[in-house]
Amino acid sequence: MHVLVTGGAGYIGSHTVLLLLNEGHTVSVLDNFSNSSPESLRRVQNLTGREVAVYEMDLLDREPLMQLVSQLSPDAVVHFAGLKAVGESVSKPLQYYRNNVVGTLNLLDAMSATGCTSLVFSSSATVYGESTELPLVETTARSATNPYGRTKLHIEEMLEELAASDPQWSIATLRYFNPVGAHESGQIGEDPQGIPNNLMPFVAQVAIGKRDKVNVFGADYATADGTGVRDYIHVMDLAAGHLAALDYMSKHNGVGAWNLGTGQGTSVLEVVQAFSRVSKRDVPYTIVARRSGDVAESYAHPEKAMLELGWKAERGLEQMVEDMWRWQEQNPDGYIRATSDKD
Ligand code: WQD
Repeated sequence: MHVLVTGGAGYIGSHTVLLLLNEGHTVSVLDNFSNSSPESLRRVQNLTGREVAVYEMDLLDREPLMQLVSQLSPDAVVHFAGLKAVGESVSKPLQYYRNNVVGTLNLLDAMSATGCTSLVFSSSATVYGESTELPLVETTARSATNPYGRTKLHIEEMLEELAASDPQWSIATLRYFNPVGAHESGQIGEDPQGIPNNLMPFVAQVAIGKRDKVNVFGADYATADGTGVRDYIHVMDLAAGHLAALDYMSKHNGVGAWNLGTGQGTSVLEVVQAFSRVSKRDVPYTIVARRSGDVAESYAHPEKAMLELGWKAERGLEQMVEDMWRWQEQNPDGYIRATSDKD
């Protein structure tokens, strides 16, 4: 199958591209490299021995996008491209709506014009808002607590209405919990720019000595050790979930939503302790105030994906941390972004 992957140079995108190539698919990548580097795809090509066609393009460039999708005429699209920093979305809501929602609209128009009606959409457990019904199931009521989450919710609803309007569409909405880890080679991984928003890359940078300590956002939650509990999922398991969704969509029309999580909750302190154990490095931390918008606990009920997609996460916390640490040790500064890569 020829699969177009938007945002395919990014963290989850590059790992999914690797798996698609290893499964024998033809892959084209569209990316504006605003939060990624072409280096990730150079390494994916080295790891797989397979070529990827890479197109530097922004989903907001409507006409060039229409032309490219028409020229490529993919069998399916996996749509990762989007801004994803919760805090940034609060200070720049219009940028998030424009980039995520308008960008997706442009993509859907380009797909419709070409007759490509098979889409995997990268959504997030953030659409469950501050729900306390745990474990989270796909029928849990959705809500948004920040502009980023609202863009994901809006896009999910747009896709539901699109599928209702035209039975030709086959759409999989995948709700990620907390993606972490890296490919076992240590060659590709998460490469946050500036100060990492998310816990795991921040802890990795403390372990490598790039930052002095972890700020634990609150230790007074109603959890076992008082710190926030999340459902961390290995990025390779997440990538495999996308291939399972593509396979399901090749046999079903309509729209479906699936949680991609392990069903296992892990606290902040458990993550810190696992990192220290695996890296054999001290990982100092200090307890600070809660971060606004955080929920105490969030973890998936993963059964629907198992029953319908035949997918479940295979890797546990130790492997997530081992693989993350290997990437961090081998690439202390992430992908060195050659000046030629980004103007
Ligand atoms: C995890 C836990 C924090 C950093 C977000 C988005 C979600 C998805 C994943 C995009 C929480 C605690 C964190 C730190 C800390 N993103 N923490 N110190 O908030 O669960 O999810 O990222 O798709 O949509 O909402 O992930 O890694 O930021 O936080 O104590 O320096 O770690 O309070 O309990 P989160 P996170």
